[in-house]
Amino acid sequence: MSFAPDLLAGRQALVTGGTSGIGAAIATAFAACGAQVVVTGRQAISVADYNAAAGERLRAEPLDVTDGAAVVRLLAHFTRLDIVVNCAGLIHREAEYDPALFAQVLDVNLTGSLRVAEAARALLAPQGGAIVNIASMLSFVGGAHAPGYAAAKGGVVQLTKSLAIRYAAQGIRVNAIAPGWIETKFTRAVREDAARYETIRVRTPMGRWGRPEDVAGAAVFLCSPAAAFVTGATLPVDGGYLAT
Ligand code: NAI
Repeated sequence: MSFAPDLLAGRQALVTGGTSGIGAAIATAFAACGAQVVVTGRQAISVADYNAAAGERLRAEPLDVTDGAAVVRLLAHFTRLDIVVNCAGLIHREAEYDPALFAQVLDVNLTGSLRVAEAARALLAPQGGAIVNIASMLSFVGGAHAPGYAAAKGGVVQLTKSLAIRYAAQGIRVNAIAPGWIETKFTRAVREDAARYETIRVRTPMGRWGRPEDVAGAAVFLCSPAAAFVTGATLPVDGGYLAT
């Protein structure tokens, strides 16, 4: 990564679902650019493991984004907030044809992003902060194997536009990143199917799966002054997958 080490100096960031995978890479990149970063994890064990290894600008707190009171409690600890990344995500694949699991997937991926954005809004306003929501390739195409996840991630793109319009008067920018196929524990089941792994690799014009670090640069850009006039956008970071 080749951003100036003080690009985000003095900024405070919150990354939900940030103890692993894409969120952890984004948090690390923010810290490398000078920000102080709180990441949240769903499980106490992931929070403890993260804090044991974290650098000086990084700290983890437990948070379930479906718990509105917990979201408000966490945000109450901040005196300043410049950046929010809604990265918490859940997928149940075929099981999402069960309406209860469909609703749970929407609650984490979509409603959770709204919950955190609304709770953070007053803190973000004084500095004109930035929100980045994490969408997906399934924001653009249907997912017969994961109907709830596709509905949620499609919704994330629309939510991003709606919040961008609503928050613009306060100087808060709201954008989304749509990662392609990224090697994290989230995609372990797909990667363990060698034929599927290869099909996806070949379909990706850049000829490989993405790494969490591939997504981090786009997040830094969207949260930096370089993106001062960018809001309501969804930026694919997919090695060209959507272009084919
Ligand atoms: P990951 O499994 O490392 O991260 C998902 C995170 O969400 C975990 O930290 C998990 O604890 C957290 N989470 C789940 N339920 C939660 C809840 N109720 N409250 C708070 N946190 C919760 O996997 P990855 O790949 O880093 O996923 C991050 C985001 O990127 C997710 O939103 C996912 O949908 C999205 N994404 C991932 C892609 C991939 O290929 N890996 C592609 C497109 C989007």
